[in-house]
Amino acid sequence: MILETGATGTVGREVVSLLVARGERVRAVSRTPATAGLPAGVEVVAGDLAEPASLAPHLAGVDAVFLIWPFTDPAVARKHASEVTCLIAATATRIVYLSAPGAADQPESFWAVVERAVEASGAEWTFLRPVGFAANTLMWAGQIRAGDVVRWPYGAAARSLVHERDLAEVAVAALTSAGHSGARHLLSGPATLTQEEQVRAIGRAVGRDLRWSEMPLGEARQMLAAAFGDPDFAEIALRGWAAFVDHPEQVTDTVERITGHPARPYADWAADHADAFR
Ligand SMILES: NC(=O)c1ccc[n+]([C@@H]2O[C@H](COP(=O)([O-])OP(=O)(O)OC[C@H]3O[C@@H](n4cnc5c(N)ncnc54)[C@H](OP(=O)(O)O)[C@@H]3O)[C@@H](O)[C@H]2O)c1
Repeated sequence: MILETGATGTVGREVVSLLVARGERVRAVSRTPATAGLPAGVEVVAGDLAEPASLAPHLAGVDAVFLIWPFTDPAVARKHASEVTCLIAATATRIVYLSAPGAADQPESFWAVVERAVEASGAEWTFLRPVGFAANTLMWAGQIRAGDVVRWPYGAAARSLVHERDLAEVAVAALTSAGHSGARHLLSGPATLTQEEQVRAIGRAVGRDLRWSEMPLGEARQMLAAAFGDPDFAEIALRGWAAFVDHPEQVTDTVERITGHPARPYADWAADHADAFR
C-alpha cells in the first residue's frame, strides 16, 4: 500500500495515475476528498498536514509514502514536520519526499527542515530535488489567454524546467523499487530555455506569435507577493530568476538514468498543456 500526500497536485496526480496503471494499491490524502477527482480504485482519505494527527488513522498497512510539503513558511515545517515523519515511520518503511535543490544550499528553507525530519524518522528515504516545474509557467496562462504579450520579470533567466510526468516516473521508481534509499536525485529537463524562449515555445504550441514584455522589479515584487501570499517566498523566486540570468540552471541526466528515456523537452510540456493557454 502506498500513501500519497499531495495526490491532487501537479506531481501527485501523475504519480497516482502511474501507480494505478501498475496495479499498486494507493491511498490518497486530500483535505477535500469529495472533490479530489482521482481515478476509481484509489482510496481517498481526509487529512491535513497542518494537523499531523489527522494522518494517523490512514497509516495502517502502508509500506511507502510519497510526501509533499505544501507550506512555504519554514516555521510551519519546524512546527509539524517531525511529528508527520515520525508518525509515518512508525508504520511505513520508505518515504519519498518531493524536495528541491534549495534543500542543499539553504539550510533554513522548509525543504531542508523537512529533509532533516525525514532523515531523523528512521524510515528509508529518497529525496527528489527537481529544478523548476514546467507547470510553473501556467502562471502565464491568464495573460496568454487574454492577449499576445507576457509581462513578467527576468525574461533572460534560463531554466531547465522539468515535466511533471518525468518527476512522477522517478517518484514511482523510488516508491516501488530498491536502490533509491539514501539518494538525493537532482532532476531537470533536458536543456535550458530563457523565460522569453519558453513563452515563444508556448506560442508555437498554440499557433500564435507571443511576445515578452519585461516587468520592472518593483512591480514584480508586489505582483508575486500577492500571487504567492508570502513576500519572503516571492523574494526567493526573484533572487532565483536573477541568478539564472548569468548562471543558467543546471541540466542533469538523472531522469534518463532512472526512467530509461531522455527527460521530456519543454516544447512537449507546452504541447501537452496547450489547452490551458487557449
Ligand atoms: N514548483 C516548482 O518549481 C517546484 C520545484 C521544486 C520543488 N517543488 C515542491 O513541490 C511541492 C508542490 O508539489 P506540486 O506542485 O505537485 O503541488 P501542488 O500542485 O501545489 O498541489 C498542492 C498539493 O498539496 C496538498 N495540500 C495543500 N495543503 C495541504 C495541507 N494543509 N495538508 C495536506 N495536503 C495539502 C493539496 O491537496 P488537497 O488540496 O487535495 O488537500 C495538493 O494536492 C512543494 O513542496 C514545492 O516546494 C516545487
